[in-house]
Amino acid sequence: MNNKKIDKMPARLDLTQSITGLILGLFIMGHILLEGSILISNEMMYKVTIMFEGYYFFGETYPGIVSFLAAAIFVIFIVHAAIALRKIPDNYRQHKIMKKHVLGMKHEDTSLWIIQLTTGFIMFFIGSVHLYIMIAEPSNIGPLASSFRVVHEHMGPLYFLLLLSVVSHAFIGLYRLAMKWGFMEGKNTKVSRARFKLLMRSLVVVYILVGSFSLAKYTYIGYTHDYTDVKKYKSKIIDLRAH
Ligand code: HEM
Repeated sequence: MNNKKIDKMPARLDLTQSITGLILGLFIMGHILLEGSILISNEMMYKVTIMFEGYYFFGETYPGIVSFLAAAIFVIFIVHAAIALRKIPDNYRQHKIMKKHVLGMKHEDTSLWIIQLTTGFIMFFIGSVHLYIMIAEPSNIGPLASSFRVVHEHMGPLYFLLLLSVVSHAFIGLYRLAMKWGFMEGKNTKVSRARFKLLMRSLVVVYILVGSFSLAKYTYIGYTHDYTDVKKYKSKIIDLRAH
């Protein structure tokens, strides 16, 4: 009988990465759509903002709820990234070996893994900046405040890069998760894989379009709204949200 103890740690870490990835993936799917409410109207984005501040529950706004939520997402984000970092050296060596074999075959899943690594690296920096701002300045979110940040605090280019990275990373991640947990093992694995791949690509395109249009709208508001007072007094007391 083999008395050797099985090390359960790698399996646990793997499961933790899958769970945190799933939470973050679903979060981003909701996030881009809710924050895209700006495309409907300023009013709608404002309503979504105060909903997260508990207005429809408490009758008053508590921006601290947003800080708490952002901090929770930040913890999940860090755990997810830390586990991924731990796996890089191993996977990188394996992929180098694999690359030798697949060279010339254009193995798509290898390319997907490389995209995951690159976009994850980009998100690690930009995502952290964004999350820190959301934790520190939860009351400066809204159609006018967010547009101010996008244009006058120069977050626009960072958001665009973050959008491209996070959308690709999230949907490739969810696709790989579905593959890993056997969702593609129908009667015909090849057909179901192709379908999932098509779904993944379509969602990437749709979400990048929604995110880009939203960003364009925030940029438009940022440039056309008169923020003279805010810039003059550099004051947080002035309600940037008033419209
Ligand atoms: C609870 C945590 C979060 C909150 C409260 C939040 C909130 C917001 C808000 C209000 C905006 C609009 C611009 C602004 O006000 O600065 C925004 C934009 C954005 N956020 Fe977040 N965010 C959170 C987490 C994340 C995470 C974890 C990511 C990805 C790593 C992310 C990616 C983005 C992107 C890409 C944009 C620009 C979207 C576009 O193109 O329209 N956010 N976020």
